[in-house]
Amino acid sequence: MTIQKSTNVTWHEGTINKAERERLLGQKGVVIWFTGLPSSGKSTLAQAVALKLFERGHLSYVLDGDNIRHGLNKNLGFSPEDREENIRRIGEVARLFADTGVIAMTAFISPYRADRDKARELLKEGEFIEIFVKVPLDVAEERDPKGLYKKARAGEIKEFTGISAPYEEPLKPELVIDTSELNLEQSRDVVINKIVEMGIIA
Ligand code: ADX
Repeated sequence: MTIQKSTNVTWHEGTINKAERERLLGQKGVVIWFTGLPSSGKSTLAQAVALKLFERGHLSYVLDGDNIRHGLNKNLGFSPEDREENIRRIGEVARLFADTGVIAMTAFISPYRADRDKARELLKEGEFIEIFVKVPLDVAEERDPKGLYKKARAGEIKEFTGISAPYEEPLKPELVIDTSELNLEQSRDVVINKIVEMGIIA
């Protein structure tokens, strides 16, 4: 539970609302929340979707774990508490992006179900699309582009998701994409088809 420390603050409604911004952009402002093990392909897939959306004339933005941890969340590590705060902030930022009418995509391990559910609660029904980027652990470990699984196995990284820290699979995600079975283009198209079907873009 995050306590509200600031008192005497009033919420201001903007003069232009979300629906108007959405009309301007010709799309719905939503959050597409990618979750999965390290090296499951979350960022790669989100970037591929962003490129496709751009080509189709749609505005999106990818919030990515490694990048956000260099700035906004540079004061957070990988303890359960810090991961919770990481996801809480990202949920709020993604909500703001969606409120601008942008298609916000988040690519964070987000290992705890409760934290993802709290991010979902910030948005209306149909505005939060959870995508489980599923891959068997051995495949993720085999990919290991940053060599982190190797370090975790050697005991050089503590609390590493999949090895020495938990990953709680989503129970009812909007989509499950197995990147060990589908290639990048196929995975991207599954996401694009889903958001067309949901009426987020035409
Ligand atoms: S989350 O668990 O809080 O959602 P997040 O997605 O922001 O994690 O960051 C994950 C990235 O941090 C990984 O891609 C990896 O490069 C790096 N990392 C460093 N240490 C760890 C660790 N102990 N567990 C998982 N990822 C780690």
